[in-house]
Amino acid sequence: MMDRLNGPPPLMIVSDLDFTMVDHEDPENLSLLRFNSLWEAYYRQFSLLVYSTGRSPTIYKQLRKEKPLLTPDITIMSVGTEIAYGESMVPDSDWEQCLNLNWDKDIIIQETAKFPQLIPQSDTEQRPHKVSFFLEKSNSSEVIKALSERLEKLKLDVKIIYSNGTALDVLPKGAGKGQALAYLLRKFKANGRTPLNSLVCGDSGNDAELFTIPEVYGVMVSNAQEELLQWHAENAKNNPNIIHSSERCASGIIQAIGKFSLGPNVSPRDIKDFGKCRVNVFSPGYEVVKFYLFYERWRRAEVEKSDQNFQNLKSSFYPLGTFVHPCGTEQPMKKCTDTMERLYGDKQGKQYQIWLNCVSTSQIGSDSWLVKFDKWESTGEERYCCLTTVLLTAKQAEESFTWMHIHQTWLDGLEAKDSSVWFL
Ligand code: GLC
Ligand code: MG
Repeated sequence: MMDRLNGPPPLMIVSDLDFTMVDHEDPENLSLLRFNSLWEAYYRQFSLLVYSTGRSPTIYKQLRKEKPLLTPDITIMSVGTEIAYGESMVPDSDWEQCLNLNWDKDIIIQETAKFPQLIPQSDTEQRPHKVSFFLEKSNSSEVIKALSERLEKLKLDVKIIYSNGTALDVLPKGAGKGQALAYLLRKFKANGRTPLNSLVCGDSGNDAELFTIPEVYGVMVSNAQEELLQWHAENAKNNPNIIHSSERCASGIIQAIGKFSLGPNVSPRDIKDFGKCRVNVFSPGYEVVKFYLFYERWRRAEVEKSDQNFQNLKSSFYPLGTFVHPCGTEQPMKKCTDTMERLYGDKQGKQYQIWLNCVSTSQIGSDSWLVKFDKWESTGEERYCCLTTVLLTAKQAEESFTWMHIHQTWLDGLEAKDSSVWFL
C-alpha cells in the first residue's frame, strides 16, 4: 500500500460499514455504487480507503461477499481492536500487543455474567480484545452505569460502548475506533505520509470516537442513530468540521466530500450523458470507469442506440487490437464492436450492475498506459469477476483514448460456469 504512494495521500476516508458505507435498505446498492465509481475514477491511485467496522473478520468477510464493497487499503475490525492491511488482510500485530496491556478478558466475562440483561452475542463476535452483548434499549442507561461502576471498582481499564440501540461492547481502554485511527495517524506521521485531509464517516455509537480525533473532517450520515446525534449535541456541537448530511449512507459521504471541498465530488454514475458533460476528464482511470458505466447502460438500454453512441464506441476500439476472453480465446477488437451492437438492451429491465475495483494505472510510453482492475458484474443472483488489463493510447488532439488490447482472467471462485454469459 505504502509502495503505491509517493507522498502523503491527498485524502483518507475512514468509514464505518453497516448503515454508513452500506445501506441495508437499498437492495440495489445505488449509493454504494455511486461512491465506488467516484473513488475508482479519482481517488484510488493516491488516496486511502479505510473501513472501520464493529464486525469481526468472519462477518466482515461475509459482508464483502454480499455487497459490492471496494477493497480497502486498511480494515479496522471488531470496534477498533483489529487492524489489517490490503486485500490479503495482513494483521497489525503491534496493535494487538498494545491492547494486551492491563486487559484481562476472563475477569470481564465473569463480571458481565452477573448482569442478566446482558445477552452474549454469537461466538464469532467475541474477540481477543472485545466482549460483546445485546442489551435492550429501554433500561440500557442504568445497566451501563451499574456495569461501569462495577468494573471501575475492580480497577479494570475498560471502555464500554453502546451502539445501534442494541449492542454493548467491552474493550480495553486503549481500543476503539478512535484510538485505532489515532494509532494509524501516528504511524503515517512517522513515515511522512500524513494524509492532507481525513474524513471520518459513521452512523452509530461506536463511531463517536472517530469524530474526536483532531483535525479530521466528519460526516454523520442522515440516517445516523439517536445515540450518535445525542453524543454530538453534547460534545461536538460547535465543531464546524462535522456535518450531519441530508443524504443517507454512502451518498452522505459524497456530500461531505463536496461540503468540505476535499476533491472531486461528482460521481461518474451521476453523469447521464458523457458526451454532453462539460468537463472531459482525461485520465486512464476515469476512462475505464466511464467506459464500463456506458457498457452497463448500453446493455440495459439506458443509453440511446444512436449512430453517435455507436460511432463513439467503435472509434474507441482499435480494430486490429486483440481481446483475450477469460476462457482463453482471442478475438480481434473489431469483433467486440459487433458483439456490442448485438448485445444492446439484452439486460433491459433486469438487475445488471457493473463496478470496478482496485483500478491501477501505469504510464508505459509517452502516450500509452496499462490499466489494471477487477471488473465485477452482478446479475442479481450471480456475481462474476475478471482481472482485466487494458492497453490504452491517447489521442491527444481529441483528448480521448483508444483501447488497443484487453486481457481478462477469471478471479478464483468468481468464474461463470457458462463462459458465454460473460462478454467484456
Ligand atoms: C457489529 C459487531 C457487534 C458489535 C456491534 C457494535 O455489529 O458485529 O459485535 O457489538 O457492531 O459495535
Ligand atoms: Mg454502522
